[in-house]
Amino acid sequence: MLAGRNLRSLSLALGLSAGSMLSSGAAGAQAPLHVISPDGRNDVSVGIRDGYLWYAVDHGGKHVLMPSRLGFAFRGAPELFKGLRITDTARTTYDSTWTQPWGEVARVRDHHNELRVTVAETAAPNRTFSVVFRAFEDGVGFRYEVPDQPAIGNYEISDELTEFTFAEDAKAWWTPSTVPKPDRYEMLYSSSPVSVLDTVNTPLTLEFQNGPAVVIHEADLVDYPGMNLAGGPEQNRTLRAALAPWADGVKVRGHTPLTTPWRTIQIADRAIDLAPSVITLKLNPPSRIEDTSWIEPMKYDGIWWGMHIGTMTWGQGPKHGATTANTKQYIDFAAANGMKGVLVEGWNVGWDGDWMNNGAKFSFTQAYPDYDLPALAAYAKSKGVTLIAHNETAMGVENYERQLDSAFALYQRLGIRAIKGGYVTDKTFGGDSHTGQYMVRHFRKVVETAAKYHIAVDMHEPIKDTGERRTWPNFMSREASRGQEYNAWGGDGGNPPEHETILFFTRMIAGPMDFTPGIFDILIKRPTGKPRTPEESRPRTTIAKQLALYVVLYSPLQMAADLPENYAGQPAFQFIRDVAVDWDTTKVLDGKIGDYVVVARKTKGKDEWFVGAITDEQKRTLDVPLGFLPKGRRYVAEIYADGPTASWKDNPESVVISSKPVTSATRLKVVLASGGGQAIRIRPAR
Ligand code: NOJ
Ligand code: CA
Repeated sequence: MLAGRNLRSLSLALGLSAGSMLSSGAAGAQAPLHVISPDGRNDVSVGIRDGYLWYAVDHGGKHVLMPSRLGFAFRGAPELFKGLRITDTARTTYDSTWTQPWGEVARVRDHHNELRVTVAETAAPNRTFSVVFRAFEDGVGFRYEVPDQPAIGNYEISDELTEFTFAEDAKAWWTPSTVPKPDRYEMLYSSSPVSVLDTVNTPLTLEFQNGPAVVIHEADLVDYPGMNLAGGPEQNRTLRAALAPWADGVKVRGHTPLTTPWRTIQIADRAIDLAPSVITLKLNPPSRIEDTSWIEPMKYDGIWWGMHIGTMTWGQGPKHGATTANTKQYIDFAAANGMKGVLVEGWNVGWDGDWMNNGAKFSFTQAYPDYDLPALAAYAKSKGVTLIAHNETAMGVENYERQLDSAFALYQRLGIRAIKGGYVTDKTFGGDSHTGQYMVRHFRKVVETAAKYHIAVDMHEPIKDTGERRTWPNFMSREASRGQEYNAWGGDGGNPPEHETILFFTRMIAGPMDFTPGIFDILIKRPTGKPRTPEESRPRTTIAKQLALYVVLYSPLQMAADLPENYAGQPAFQFIRDVAVDWDTTKVLDGKIGDYVVVARKTKGKDEWFVGAITDEQKRTLDVPLGFLPKGRRYVAEIYADGPTASWKDNPESVVISSKPVTSATRLKVVLASGGGQAIRIRPAR
């Protein structure tokens, strides 16, 4: 059994450093191979020792991953793991640049060196597989290819035996992948040495003492389960791939040939150099959608927060949110404020009663009687706005799949250009993991079907982002982490002030998140009229920090999440009107995981920049040089700052707006309140 393997003795046997392996001449060893990134800084070594295939990774001459083994365990067949020898190698080099239809950067260059290593068992049945390694300037990717062969046709993989043995006991920023809310990724982050981790989600961000920062994740996840990472008492600094299982414990079913997702090891000298992260984009196939002109980044409002704070309901009744009259108001509000989308939840049959446990009852075409779907879709269209049709499944996956074509065809006929998916349930889902092979297939099916009908997708409780937006750019945003909604519910007080300063370096490395920023009624005075106390759930941020989140937490779909009436008479709402949702470039100016971060982004195709700075519960003053601006030009900075006595706890709604001339030589003194932030628009001086 895997758990019984003594990995520590293996790494001793392999020698203490990857470098020392180079001169190893032990019996049964083959000289290590290397593939090095074009800039010479990331060095992957690959070899055989004691019959095991291993790889190791160095960055700038420093060990990142020590020799770590590769292979598979099967149900009903011996492991494909030991007794291996290298039978073939091949090398290529690649350099090409593409333009993204939307993104946090407009252009991405994929420049890498590739090494393909083929191994075979030295004894019968001489099974064989290859591992393809790519060395980039921003990290390393590798994946398995198992060809069709007599001894492996139909397979049931019980474990992928991939190891990641860290060269030091780096500090990991993690969420648990098994308890207590299985599979939703909606847990708070913790940090601890990698040696004490149990089972955690990817992306997993790790900080080495004096650098680098490393993210373990995956790319091109298709017809395969999502990869978690498991530590364990015996394992010391080794994490193992832990694939999300089917109900019977099998991880992957199929027939060879098998190509696994890429396992990615993103590496940067400092944590602030991890973003913008594009390594997973480089490891996904190019867009399958030729004409992407219908895929439009946008801001949206919606009938949503009301349900979470209790002023409205999803189901029918006196507080039903999704009425024709309400929706018209949200459409008017969006149109008046330059937003292109209106999300409506609770519009369709299925919400009455215990919806979380009645997923099979949802209709995705039939509206409630007080919601005139065709009229509203036409009204929205007349105002240059699209409805975003909400599709909560409550994990009634088969029910949803049966209706996919008819629902999306209807939406397309009505001019609805986006959906928001949902996969909430209180029940276990037939024992198959929410992020296993079955659901990975399902999520892909939804996105591909949506593309056929020119519909963009924003998914909640989804599979994590593994860069498929490159292939399917209609998969614009998703949740896959703990968003704003946790600040509305009673119970645990809401997300802590440090939450988003961690998200930026962890969850956001995977890709866009539908966090839904923009709450202005921080004290949640509605519906009771009584402000909530700091102990009750409410956003543990200031208003200025809510604004900064539009810049810090990237999404091409950004919600103005509060009720329109809470924006009335609020000058700070101007920032939400102005902020861009599509970018030419992104620069992380400063930051520390869990403490603070400052991000600058340039609006796509425009001489305009936005800066967002956020802090945890510590107030702080930052020196922010504007050296990213083009030299010799004059700009105006419109600054939305925490008021002098602002703090998330005692005075969260105090925001001061000012403007001043700036150039590339300006250094801004950015003062952040406890739980605060600052949002800045920089535009050319007139
Ligand atoms: C959870 C989602 O995250 C939230 O946005 C949505 O309102 C509810 N599920 C209902 O679908
Ligand atoms: Ca959710």
